Amino acid sequence: MKQTAYVNGHFLPMESAMVHIEDRGFQFADGVYEVVACFNGNFLDMQPHLERLERCCAAINIPLPCPLERLAELVRQTWQKNPFPDAMIYIQVTRGVAPRAHLAPDNLVPTLIITSADLPKPSEAKLTSGAKAITLADFRWKHCEIKSIALLASVMGKQEANRQHADEAFWLDTEGHVLEGCSTNIFAAINGTLVTHPLDHQVLGGITRSMLIRVAREAGIKIEERPWCLDEPGLTETMLTSTTNAVLPVCVMDDKPVGKGIPGPMAGRLRALMLQNMDALRNA
Ligand SMILES: Cc1ncc(COP(=O)(O)O)c(C=O)c1O
Repeated sequence: MKQTAYVNGHFLPMESAMVHIEDRGFQFADGVYEVVACFNGNFLDMQPHLERLERCCAAINIPLPCPLERLAELVRQTWQKNPFPDAMIYIQVTRGVAPRAHLAPDNLVPTLIITSADLPKPSEAKLTSGAKAITLADFRWKHCEIKSIALLASVMGKQEANRQHADEAFWLDTEGHVLEGCSTNIFAAINGTLVTHPLDHQVLGGITRSMLIRVAREAGIKIEERPWCLDEPGLTETMLTSTTNAVLPVCVMDDKPVGKGIPGPMAGRLRALMLQNMDALRNA
């Protein structure tokens, strides 16, 4: 499919969709972004994604380029121009274009781009074996709750994971607690309870993280949001969440098996429940 991108008020062919070299996103990574999944034109948790974008813009003092209802309309239009059956909508807002100086002039017009692409998903092989991951001491900044486009640490983490033939790198705090991945949140099954790090400045409040908690609660699974370590007694499974993965078991960590080293029953059950929600959108 020939892709069409939305750039500052215009729909353009992907090849000619450009922003200025003095865009502050390019010069300073001065911006935030969102990734929303869409199934047959029905968006998964659009409102929470847009509200997170609003919060992140507010956190770095960038005015929203337009009201959320208008943004939702632009997102829908972008999908209609790129109607992938399972789509990934990317939204980026930067502070705008200005001569390069750290301090931005007042009243800049924010840059808004929106694209729609095929939604990447874990392969069948990955679902069968589970993901392989490494851990790294967290060397990111102290505002991980902001979905910033400054992703250099995440890029470096993914490169290191890839060098070690792994799919994801998970960040550890100085006490060895598992925080989140480069582009994912992480949960552990510990004595039958689903455990994940609480929301603070060290983790992004993933929309899929919230969805998994909701789905697990509805299924009667106990949830604890607390710091946890990989060597906790009773830990049998780990699983990652993100918009593109839904929930995916992580079966090897730093070359050691997690639990039995194969996808476990908690991840299997939760993934089936999550996929039901996506199927419901496909068939709506
Ligand atoms: C650092 C980080 N944590 C978690 C997530 C998962 O967020 P979501 O479930 O909203 O896709 C992402 C997604 O990009 C991320 O970059």
